[in-house]
Amino acid sequence: MKQVLFKNPNEPPVVFHWFPFLGSTITYGIDPPRFFKDCRKKYGDCFTFILLGKKTTVYLGTQGNDFILNGKLRDVCAEDIYTVLTTPVFGKDVVYDCPNSKLMEQKKFVKVALTTEAFRSYVPIIVDEVTNYFKRCPDFKGQSGITNIPRNLAQITIFTASHCLQGKEVRDQFDESLADLYHDLDMGFTPINFILHWAPLPWNKRRDHAQQTVAKIYMDIIKRRRESGETGAQDIMWHLMNSKYKDGRPIPDHEIAHMLIALLMAGQHSSSSTGAWIMLRLASRPDIMEELYQEQIRNLGPDLPPLTYEDLAKLPLNQAIIKETLRLHAPIHSIMRAVKQPMPVPGTKWVIPNDHVLLAAPGVSASDPEYFPEPDLWEPRRWDKDHPLAPTIVRNQTDEEEEKIDYGYGLVSKGAHSPYLPFGAGRHRCIGEQFANVQLQTIVATVVRMFKFRNVDGSNNVVGTDYSSLFSRPLEPANIYWERREKA
Ligand code: HEM
Repeated sequence: MKQVLFKNPNEPPVVFHWFPFLGSTITYGIDPPRFFKDCRKKYGDCFTFILLGKKTTVYLGTQGNDFILNGKLRDVCAEDIYTVLTTPVFGKDVVYDCPNSKLMEQKKFVKVALTTEAFRSYVPIIVDEVTNYFKRCPDFKGQSGITNIPRNLAQITIFTASHCLQGKEVRDQFDESLADLYHDLDMGFTPINFILHWAPLPWNKRRDHAQQTVAKIYMDIIKRRRESGETGAQDIMWHLMNSKYKDGRPIPDHEIAHMLIALLMAGQHSSSSTGAWIMLRLASRPDIMEELYQEQIRNLGPDLPPLTYEDLAKLPLNQAIIKETLRLHAPIHSIMRAVKQPMPVPGTKWVIPNDHVLLAAPGVSASDPEYFPEPDLWEPRRWDKDHPLAPTIVRNQTDEEEEKIDYGYGLVSKGAHSPYLPFGAGRHRCIGEQFANVQLQTIVATVVRMFKFRNVDGSNNVVGTDYSSLFSRPLEPANIYWERREKA
């Protein structure tokens, strides 16, 4: 009753709830996309719900994505939301623990380092890491077996990313202490830490110890590299060591170390969840896994020569697998911003007040039948433009005709009007997209050469989604049956 009587007519409708602080926290937390779609039916594209006492305004659809992700710096702010969670994990003076203009410079350092030459050097590293992983992993002994595949993908992702981005010295330490330390750092990323990030709880103590230890490991390596005077590696550590801020200052060692932690953590959850979904989808569609293998034989030659960066462009289905999996399983389901001053919503009477949080959910437009025929069907071939299920109005963000803007880390599309934005848009857009694509395409192409997968029960089903952490991922155990290919 109170919700109806005291509703401000200039604010979006409020999702009905019984308890003031709790609001819709539980329904949202169990299945955010389901919650958004149900609310959309009742309230339209723009509505407010209560998330742990905070008025959270969701704006769905392509206009909502643009309104939030391309919001002006004076209107919206990411660091006010995320810094409590990220600063204890990454460390001081990087990402959200610094002014936005500094983050833009830090993103540019990384973007500039991820050149075609760098990617060319990464493909053989990834192939070797994946091949050796399956040789030594106890889950893959013998000719066939059953494995909980998300766990394997988490390991493959961290080995490949650390080796490519941080160099061999760092990668080698993942067989020893670094894996456990990163696990402890990860504990700082649980949603409860939005509230309890400061508390002297056992997992926060382990997080703080891990942060200091990992940062020291990186700083020691930086020091050794400086002393040895070696140059020439393609990894990000070297690049950061040789970069300068616009004011001419070199990047301090502790900032390099903290940026390295941030990059590995940012990529780990999203890429390993996507990799796991790809493998699960392939197990549910062995015919497509076989087609991927045949695509390699057809386009690279029957002897399957060692995979190169250039080969990836010759494997369109291999690329489409990643695109289609990200359409249905984008790991970041909610992108939040604090509102800094009242924001009128164009074309409506609504003004979003500055005590609200804004929430964009591009995954909702990526499964909207308005743009994607049979949206719930995982069909990688829909990305062939002549396919009957091809998206109706997907405007590719990298299209040349699209107007571009530079927020300080290189040109990105000005608008966020595409219904397909798994890597976000605007000033906080992902800088790891190309790396993630190279990493995932190489992992898939290598796995397809070695194995055939199917569901344990032979069905076409896939497991549900676990939304309990900040990044969505497959519900575990997510077992698949694997069988070695005769040629492998
Ligand atoms: C930002 C998705 C892999 C580094 C983002 C954002 C999304 C995203 C949606 C925007 C967040 C926001 O607007 O608040 C993904 C997906 C990935 C992936 C789906 C893999 C499939 C990576 C990798 C790296 C990385 C491998 C590092 C090498 C970053 C960074 C940002 C970012 C530094 C910028 C954060 C900011 O400016 O606030 N990513 N990402 N990502 N991502 Fe990724």
